[in-house]
Amino acid sequence: MDIKDAVKERYAKAALRVVGDGQGCCGSVASSLGCGDPITSNLYDEAERGQLPETAVLASLGCGNPTALAQLNPGETVLDLGSGGGIDVLLSARRVGPSGKAYGLDMTDEMLALARQNQRKAGLENVEFLKGEMENIPLPDASMDVIISNCVINLATDKDRVLREAFRVLKPGGRLAVSDVVVRGEVPAEVRRNVELWAGCIAGALQEEEYRSKLEGAGFTGIEVEPTRTYHVEEAREFLAAKGIDVDAIAPLVDGKFISAFVRAQKAA
Ligand SMILES: C[S@@+](CC[C@H](N)C(=O)[O-])C[C@H]1O[C@@H](n2cnc3c(N)ncnc32)[C@H](O)[C@@H]1O
Repeated sequence: MDIKDAVKERYAKAALRVVGDGQGCCGSVASSLGCGDPITSNLYDEAERGQLPETAVLASLGCGNPTALAQLNPGETVLDLGSGGGIDVLLSARRVGPSGKAYGLDMTDEMLALARQNQRKAGLENVEFLKGEMENIPLPDASMDVIISNCVINLATDKDRVLREAFRVLKPGGRLAVSDVVVRGEVPAEVRRNVELWAGCIAGALQEEEYRSKLEGAGFTGIEVEPTRTYHVEEAREFLAAKGIDVDAIAPLVDGKFISAFVRAQKAA
């Protein structure tokens, strides 16, 4: 099975969990840790959760809150890459108002079905969920004011292509505002593999410098990487120890090196 099929299978199961038994947590972190993992939990405040159907909140599998940090103006068009259960699309739709529009793009049928159900429950009409891959965005050139994404670009095997596609569909002057897991500094490959066992969305995470240079390569300017959460080895101790990994030995090599970050960039006007 290739990586994309594995990602699809993983998120189809996550969508069905939300629809089936209402247990949407444990999305990114290995389930032995139980719910309330440090990456996906407590990303949205009460006011935001209050505007959303419960199944949209339960389906949240992101690692940040891009709409809270992005500038979104009434009347704008927004695209969420890898929109999952639709949480950030629904929040964006309220921010851009009825004269604006929020699109969600996802490749997993089960997630799209859940997102469309959440849209109906939220009663929002300025929303459209599209099926497709962020490597081939099914939207015209220069059609979006803002692109958001929440913990998805790290899952892509060809990130250069995703960023080129994002650049293509943005209008001149458009903004990219994404949450993602990013690696700060060097982590030996062997040690990194151990940490990836713990949290799926750490797999594929770019180093901060690589992220910046890929954004530049795609044509973006005004690049900023702002840390929003820093992860510590203690959060994964129980899980890693149960796998026979010497946590104290790897601690200095990983502690504080994995972060969630808010990444901003622009397409020059
Ligand atoms: C970690 S979840 C995040 C979902 C959502 N952004 C959130 O914050 O809850 C990743 C989502 O991205 C979708 N996805 C992963 N790779 C994709 C790709 N190449 N193209 C489109 N969607 C993708 C998955 O189907 C899944 O719904």
